[in-house]
Amino acid sequence: MKNTRILSGIQPSGELHLGNYFGMMQRMIHYQEENELYCFLVNYHALTTVRDSDKLRENTINAACDFMALGLDPKKAVFWVQSDVPEVTELTWLLSNIVPVGLLERSTSYKDKIAKGIIPNHGLFSYPVLMAADILLFGGEVVPVGKDQKQHLEISRDIAEKFNLTYGETFVVPKPLIEDNKGLICGIDGQKMSKSYNNTIEIFKDKDTLTSKVMGIVTDATPVDEPKDTKTSILFQIYSLFLNVSELKELKHRFESPGLRYSDVKKELVNVIWDYFSDYRECRHDLLNDKSYVLNMLKEGSDKARDTANKYLTLARKNVGLNYTNF
Ligand code: TRP
Repeated sequence: MKNTRILSGIQPSGELHLGNYFGMMQRMIHYQEENELYCFLVNYHALTTVRDSDKLRENTINAACDFMALGLDPKKAVFWVQSDVPEVTELTWLLSNIVPVGLLERSTSYKDKIAKGIIPNHGLFSYPVLMAADILLFGGEVVPVGKDQKQHLEISRDIAEKFNLTYGETFVVPKPLIEDNKGLICGIDGQKMSKSYNNTIEIFKDKDTLTSKVMGIVTDATPVDEPKDTKTSILFQIYSLFLNVSELKELKHRFESPGLRYSDVKKELVNVIWDYFSDYRECRHDLLNDKSYVLNMLKEGSDKARDTANKYLTLARKNVGLNYTNF
């Protein structure tokens, strides 16, 4: 893909783990080289669930530092905090009026939350409309998302098409880019790595925490002097994230040769992970100590984002008839 406007929002939801990085961030950061990348931290969306204001502030600025430390270059990509472009809430309202309630009621992510006993508020219900506004306001052409966001993206497409039909061509209809191969990084228990399963390996925690997480990777009871099955091994899968083709072959060979001790491999993996992120860790440390630089970058990002936003919003306001002074 080249010269495409790629757009994605990221929840500023606390500590980053390997699943976030290998599932999404690494690829997003790669897109900034040959495409027009629009990338933002969705703190309005976070309000649907977060009630602690200090936590929200802290998570937002930390997520900005994490993303920049891991290589997101605010000079190459447009990078901002969602609420710094409040136009998105106005567009949400314009879109709301063409969205059938039934469409939102069918959202599986909404239904799952209700099934878990969460008492739904209006924000949670209209989450997909705000997400559609996020995409349409910036003319996003391609939206890389995990499988769990597929339906949200279909709702965004429906909304764009319906708006264009109702009011005339206004928005780009976005295409999803579903990441399924690496989209699911397994956690230390073998389920999808996710904070809600408590099976994550964090990227920027101290080495003791990293060690205890890696030592906790679930392994089977194959005796030391027997070959190990790489296909079912969670340890092998997690380790493989850090290896190139020939290193992977070598690890496979070690697994298949008698004598391999899982605990040795785990100790080795702790160091591999630690070293892999060591430059990023330093960079993050510097950024956390220079928040004014980060804030400046976010401000520049939101200025650029607002330029694009206002083009689409002005057209949308006109097409629905809010520009009454021109009558
Ligand atoms: N709902 C997405 C998630 O939870 C986050 C998101 C918000 C998003 N707005 C977006 C993703 C726009 C892509 C495009 O992961």
